[in-house]
Amino acid sequence: MKINRLLSSFLCAGAVLAATAAGATDSGVTVLDLNAAKPGAEIQPTMYGLFFEDINYGADGGLYAEMVKNRSFEFPQNLMGWYSFGGVEVREGDGPFERNPHYVRLSAAGHDHKHTGLENEGFFGVSFKEGEQYRFSVWARTDRPGASAKIRIELVDPATGGESQVCAKKHIEITSDKWTKYTAVLKPTATVSKGKLRVFLAKPDDQCAVDLEHVSLFPVNTWKGHENGLRADLAQALYDLKPGVFRFPGGCIVEGTELGDRYQWKNTVGPVENRPLNMNRWHYTFPKRFFPDYYQTYGLGFYEYFLLSEEIGAEPLPVINVGLVCQYQNDDLHAHVPSDSLDCYIQDALDLIEFANGDTTTTWGALRAEMGHPAPFNLKFLGVGNEQWGPEYVERLAPFVKTLRAKHPEIKIIGSSGPDSEGDKFDYLWPEMKRLGVDLVDEHFYRKEDWFSKCGTRYDNYDRKGPKVFAGEYACHGRKKKYNHFNTALWEAALMTGLERNADVVHMATYAPLFAHTEGWQWRPDMIWFDNMGMTKTSSYNVQQLYSLNKGTNVLPLTLGGKPVAGLDDQNGLFASAVLDKNDNSYIIKIVNTAETPRDIRIDIKGLPKKASIGSIKVLSLDGTDALDALEGTNMQIHSKVTESTLSAPAVEKRTATLSLGEIPAKTFRVYRLPLR
Ligand code: AHR
Repeated sequence: MKINRLLSSFLCAGAVLAATAAGATDSGVTVLDLNAAKPGAEIQPTMYGLFFEDINYGADGGLYAEMVKNRSFEFPQNLMGWYSFGGVEVREGDGPFERNPHYVRLSAAGHDHKHTGLENEGFFGVSFKEGEQYRFSVWARTDRPGASAKIRIELVDPATGGESQVCAKKHIEITSDKWTKYTAVLKPTATVSKGKLRVFLAKPDDQCAVDLEHVSLFPVNTWKGHENGLRADLAQALYDLKPGVFRFPGGCIVEGTELGDRYQWKNTVGPVENRPLNMNRWHYTFPKRFFPDYYQTYGLGFYEYFLLSEEIGAEPLPVINVGLVCQYQNDDLHAHVPSDSLDCYIQDALDLIEFANGDTTTTWGALRAEMGHPAPFNLKFLGVGNEQWGPEYVERLAPFVKTLRAKHPEIKIIGSSGPDSEGDKFDYLWPEMKRLGVDLVDEHFYRKEDWFSKCGTRYDNYDRKGPKVFAGEYACHGRKKKYNHFNTALWEAALMTGLERNADVVHMATYAPLFAHTEGWQWRPDMIWFDNMGMTKTSSYNVQQLYSLNKGTNVLPLTLGGKPVAGLDDQNGLFASAVLDKNDNSYIIKIVNTAETPRDIRIDIKGLPKKASIGSIKVLSLDGTDALDALEGTNMQIHSKVTESTLSAPAVEKRTATLSLGEIPAKTFRVYRLPLR
C-alpha cells in the first residue's frame, strides 16, 4: 500500500515535470532533448523528390523548350497556333511522318507584292532574348524534282513602334523534292517577350511550291545543350533541389478521360517528329481556366524523363496506366479496361522495364541505345495507377503485381491509397495494398492549414512492417486564397518534420504540382512559377530545398517533455526533427515555429561520441515578411528568403552539451547544422 502511494506520488511529480517541460522552463525557455547516442532509421536517398506532370503548361510551353505551338499541324484544328497568309494549304497522306500525317504546302501568292507564309504565336508568345541563339528546323521539300525554292525565317516583334518588326532573319534554300531536314540559327537583335515566328515563301517561282512539316524553334542554350532539350533555367532549378526521386509523367494525365487519351509511353519514344499528339486533360478540366490549345506533343517523353532523372541525380519513377480512366471524370464502369483484358497494359509495363534496363540486344533496350543511351537507366521503381480507388483498382492492380513479381522481382511496385488523405477510399485501399504486397503506397493530400497543424504525428503509428509510404502529392492549400503563401510553405515544413522522424516508414515525398506558367495555370499552388522569360521559386521550393540539402542519413530522437515535437496540443505550434549526417559527421536539427509568438529554445544534447566536440553551427533561416502575402496571378514576387548565419559552438562536457538557440521568431523555419569534431 505504502509502496503504491510512494509510486503514485513519483508518477505525479513526473507528470508535473513533463507538463512544465512541454511548455517552457520557469525562465520561459523551451527545452528539447536530443539523444545523439541513438541514431535510428536510415533516411532513404529517395526521401525528398519531385513530382512532374504536364499541368499548368509544365511540359509543352514549359520545361520542354520547344517554342513553336502545333509544330506538326496535328492539333484537331490543324492551323491552331498559326496565322496563315497567301497560298497555304494543309495536306496529308504523303508526309514524312506516319503518325503525324499533316503538313502544309506554301504556294506563290499570285503577285510579287503579295506574300505566302505562316506566323506562329508560340506559347503565350514566342519569346526571345537579344544575343541568344535559336535553332530553327523544318522538314521540307519542293513539290517537283529539279526545282529549288527559298523560305525566309523571321523572329518578329509585331507590337513594336520601331522602324522594323524584324529582330532576326535567315533564308533557307529548299533544294530537293525529297523530305529533308533543314536548320538555321537565328540571333535576335532585341529582347521580346510577345514575339512571333514567321516563315515566308521567299522569292517564289510561280511553278514551285514548298511543303513544310515539323516546324521547330529551340534555344540553342538548353539544359546540357541537348537538341530537343529542356529550358536550362527550369531544369537547373530542379537540379538545385538535389532530388532523390523524379516521378513522371503525372498525375491525372496518366489516366485519360477516355482510354484512348491515356498516357501511353510507347508513343513518347523514338524520333520526336513521329510521336503522335495526345489530348491534355488540363485543357478542359476546369472550364473557368480553359485552354483550348493545350495538347501533349510528347516531345518531352519517357526517354527525356529518364535522361533528366539521371542528370539531376534522381531515381526515375514512372507511373503507368492500370487500365482505368480518370475515375473523377468517368463513373461509367464500362469506360475502363475489363480486368481480364489487361494483357497489353501489363506488357506495356514489362516493355517499359526493358526500355529502361534491358540490354541493347532487346527490342526496347535497342531503341534506348538508338536514342543515345546504350547504358541502362537503372529503373528501380514503378507506379501502377495514379490516384485510383475502389475494388476496380484493386482487381486490376493484382495481375500487374503477380506478373511483375514473377518477371521483375527487383522492381519496387507502388500502389495508390486514392485521392484522399483519410476516409473511406483510403481506409479500404491501405489494407488491400498490404494484401497485394506492394512495396510502397502513394498518398495524396492537398489540405488546408488546420489539417497540416494536426498532422505532425500522422506516421508515428503506421505499421512498421507494411508497405512504405510515398507521399506522392501534397501541398498546403491556404484558406485565405489558393495561392503560394509563405505561411502555407511553413506548414509544409512542419509536416516534413513528421516525415523525417518516421523515415523508417516514409521513403519518398514529393510536393505537387511542380510547375505553373503564370499565364497558363489550371492548378495552384505550385512549386515553381515561370513565364517565357524567367521564373520564381516559391517559399515551398525553399522549404523543399532546405530539406533535401539537409537530408542527413539517420533519424535522431528529438523530444519535448518526452514526446515528439509535433505541434501537439501543449506545444503551441512547435515542430522539430533531427538527423545525423554520416557523410560529413554532423547533426542537423530542423525547427518550425508556426505560432504567432517567438519561442526561446534550448537543446540539451546527450550521448555525444567520446572525445567529440561541436564546431561552429551553420544556421539557415527561412523567414517571410508577411506570412499571408501571396504570389498571385502574374506577380512573380515572393515574400520570403533564406538567410545564413552562424552560432557559436556549445561546450561539450561528459558527452553532453547545452545549445541555446535563443529566440526563434514567430513563423520561422530554421535548420541548424552542428559539425562534430
Ligand atoms: O497535382 C494535380 C493533380 O492532383 C494530379 O494530376 C492528380 O493526381 C491529383 O488529383
